[in-house]
Amino acid sequence: MRLKARSAGPLSGRARPPGDKSISHRALIMGALAHGVSEIEGLLEAADVLNTAEAVRLLGAEAEKLDNGRWRVRGAGGFRQPSETIDCGNSGTAARLLIGAVSGYKLSARFDGDQSLRKRPMNRVVAPLSQMGARFDSTENRLPLIVHGGALKGITYRSPVSSAQVKSAVLLAGLKAEGETILIEPERSRDHTERMLKVFGANFDMVEIDGAEHPRVRPGPLTATNIYVPADPSSAAFPIAAALILGKSEVRVEDVLVNPLRLGFYETLLEMGADLTYVERSDPIGEPVAELIARGSKLRGANPPAKRAPAMIDEFPILAVVAAFAQGETRIVGAAELRVKESDRITMMVEGLKACGVDAEELPDGLVVRGHGPKSVRGGAQIRTLGDHRIAMSFLVLGMASKEPVIVDDADMIATSFPGFVECMSALGADIQPTR
Ligand code: S3P
Repeated sequence: MRLKARSAGPLSGRARPPGDKSISHRALIMGALAHGVSEIEGLLEAADVLNTAEAVRLLGAEAEKLDNGRWRVRGAGGFRQPSETIDCGNSGTAARLLIGAVSGYKLSARFDGDQSLRKRPMNRVVAPLSQMGARFDSTENRLPLIVHGGALKGITYRSPVSSAQVKSAVLLAGLKAEGETILIEPERSRDHTERMLKVFGANFDMVEIDGAEHPRVRPGPLTATNIYVPADPSSAAFPIAAALILGKSEVRVEDVLVNPLRLGFYETLLEMGADLTYVERSDPIGEPVAELIARGSKLRGANPPAKRAPAMIDEFPILAVVAAFAQGETRIVGAAELRVKESDRITMMVEGLKACGVDAEELPDGLVVRGHGPKSVRGGAQIRTLGDHRIAMSFLVLGMASKEPVIVDDADMIATSFPGFVECMSALGADIQPTR
């Protein structure tokens, strides 16, 4: 379905975006690996996560929905041979975490995904898992691939990329590997796997190597527990960005996960001069949560440091939109990973921004956006999304603040991460409608 966003007045009200995607995948996978019954409250019921629910059922767990966002997972204490191909749909997280987790078991599992996921690199997990002893049948380490698991040996793996998916795949495999498994990454990526392994009682700790702390796992069982899933900061980014670029807006976004390793976008917004505050911090589940309040702001360009990229990796598309409404240049670097997301997000953002009359330029590892302040963006384009949910949402936000409406060519994929996006934004005052 195509959607059209038209310029809107100031936004106001409260929003509670759906549950965090990263925590939702992990809760299902660890619940399935554990002994006993785990209850999950606030699970993101989006296509990506529902694929993981179906996968853990195929691998021998029970996963049932009790009520909206409330799920019960009965883990069998490990995985069994699946009878069918595990379809990960559009989700790199589902594919990479599950490939890691099944590697520890003596079984053969075939993984596949949609056209976008089939193009994304799996070598980043195949390489360390092969070192641990898993075997793979694939063409150029892409999906579809077959994992033959079992009899793993622990390794100390120096990952060339800061990727929470790689880290998590290796640590989940380490739960069933002989000896210890340690993961070293260039910059720390999101640590939800580490936090949740502790909550599930894994044999997990942090070790110091070369003056820095790194996660270590040793074999041992997981014990069922209950997990609460706060709102996804990567989804909260959209109503917050819209409020900042729309005049006299004031939007409160409730119950947002504020894990420090996910806050790079919000740090950058503050550097741009955003009127953004956090209140009511609490830590109900080993993950910090807060209410965020965003008000329409006069923004200036920013140069987020390259080392911040892992803490804002999913927010670069919406940051590029915010930058178009700021005064001055925003230079994004250290973000080459954007080229292997659901689409090549560097190319897609620059193409779409230029079509909307914004001065934007590609860099090998990022992009430059030169903004001219609020009300300066023309819009008036139809945006090619290549089925990438975050590209679609980012340009709909742009269309809310540009002079002419913006159409995105396909908005169905938004449901992979933010079901209810249009309703959420409309309740705040947006004008986003289906169009032909
Ligand atoms: C995720 C890690 C990130 C992120 C993705 C979710 C996770 O990917 O982009 O949306 O849940 O571990 P990488 O590990 O490829 O950086």
